[in-house]
Amino acid sequence: MDTASEEFAANREAMLAKLAELETEHAKAIAGGGEKYVARHRKRGKLLARERIELLLDEDSPFLELSPLAAWGTDYHVGGSVVTGIGTVEGVECMIVANDPTVKGGASNPSSLKKGLRAAEIAAENRLPTINLVESGGADLPTQKEIFIPGGRTFRNLTNSSAARIPTIALVFGNSTAGGAYLPGMSDYVVMVKERAKVFLGGPPLVKMATGEESDDESLGGAEMHARTSGLADYLAQDEEDAIRLGRSIVKRLNWHKQGPAPKPDYDEPLHDPADLLGVVPGDLKVPFDPREVIARVVDGSDFDEFKPLYGPSLVTGWASLHGYPVGILANAQGVLFSEESQKATQFIQLANQSDTPLIFLHNTTGYMVGREYEQGGIIKHGAMMINAVSNSKVPHLSVLMGASYGAGHYGMCGRAYGPRFLFAWPSAKSAVMGPQQLAGVLSIVARAAAANRGQAYDEDGDKAMRAMVEQQIEAESMPMFLSGMLYDDGIIDPRDTRTVLGLSLSAIHNGPVRGAEGFGVFRM
Ligand code: COA
Repeated sequence: MDTASEEFAANREAMLAKLAELETEHAKAIAGGGEKYVARHRKRGKLLARERIELLLDEDSPFLELSPLAAWGTDYHVGGSVVTGIGTVEGVECMIVANDPTVKGGASNPSSLKKGLRAAEIAAENRLPTINLVESGGADLPTQKEIFIPGGRTFRNLTNSSAARIPTIALVFGNSTAGGAYLPGMSDYVVMVKERAKVFLGGPPLVKMATGEESDDESLGGAEMHARTSGLADYLAQDEEDAIRLGRSIVKRLNWHKQGPAPKPDYDEPLHDPADLLGVVPGDLKVPFDPREVIARVVDGSDFDEFKPLYGPSLVTGWASLHGYPVGILANAQGVLFSEESQKATQFIQLANQSDTPLIFLHNTTGYMVGREYEQGGIIKHGAMMINAVSNSKVPHLSVLMGASYGAGHYGMCGRAYGPRFLFAWPSAKSAVMGPQQLAGVLSIVARAAAANRGQAYDEDGDKAMRAMVEQQIEAESMPMFLSGMLYDDGIIDPRDTRTVLGLSLSAIHNGPVRGAEGFGVFRM
């Protein structure tokens, strides 16, 4: 890659502009409920969700925040009133889920629920202990219809985790009532903050309505009562800092051991500068780029052993290591996947499963090739082989959407529905069933043919307006912030952080065993 070229400079400029936009949106999540609610929270002598996390984590250890843009493009606050991510506590990687009480009292809306369920899925798949930092108004009442029924899974997930011998810990800082009471209720370990935690199925007004009994918060669900009388609290914390200290000491005694193989202790940093990743993706995704330039800036020592380099050149496959973990990489080169690329991918995925090697998918594909020659050559069968291999592969998968991720190519490259352990997008990514122009064009051809069948004249002006409108809509819906808002990825990352983010993900993954598939579905020949 010529980092002195005009093209590189233009790509870099475009990427930096996108990153600036992304920062503005991330800032909204970090701002929580805004100045007024943050000030009120502080005045009450309470720590913010992110401050609680920072104190809980080992000093100077990283926090891999997940789904920070949840709820983007909806009526809810960006971030979804909850912070989730993976951080290290007493040397143990934990899934941390912290309500943000400055956003609608920390109440859970449909986006918060999706984000919480995704965090639980990541914790289960990667065998991560969960620490809930609880202070929430429970269900967001105006949207209860969307969360009450599916939200029950939150509590089921906690006890399922416990049954799988993956510990769950609740640190209760404030309100945790009604359904929320089952957060501590279903956790293995519970810490409650004195005079702050409020854990009851029904508060005083509800009790009065239901039974006529007069009561108060403290006797119904205070920390002292739960620590001394009901036994729901295992530890009584004097204040928030003390709760965090107790949380850390619980993790210290978990006797936790990772089950995956350890990384090689010595590995080299890439020879090529990861900062160059800013200039690799062209502003126009129709212009291809060489994914080897990306691989060279992500893997240890920029050392990549390419597999089958002369066959199916539109997909690059090969072996490398990342932060000492062995990986196989599949990366789109020219955009389109032909039969050769599909067969090569299928073989490569099988090889990775034979050697228990995790796989990384670097997306920049417009999908599988269409046309008479390719249909007759069996492109459906060959694409299906690749999708079969991806679906039944048992080694951990990581996906990074660098550029286009369209059509069934998104599936074959282990898109969201194919269960990658983590899926991150670059700001340059776009994902949809097809490109906006193609989609609008298809609609136009179909409408024109339908009009002809009815013997009607086709409204050309209407067609033009429809195409423009559809193109605009699909373009907006293909953008990473929109997709991140819908929880279709685990976050949008700065390309320069790709190595770090993948390294953290691989380390988290290795809490569980890493083992390839014993068998696949029937491969259509
Ligand atoms: N659903 C929707 N909005 C809620 C909410 C909920 N469960 N809980 C709080 N909010 C809103 C409030 O209406 C308020 O909105 P506004 O500032 O726009 O007027 C905002 O969140 C902050 O609430 P507030 O009561 O001022 O905050 P607080 O920190 O003093 O108290 C709670 C927080 C959670 C203790 C209190 O709001 C409460 O008791 N909520 C209801 C809890 C409940 O019974 N939930 C049912 C669960 S199934």
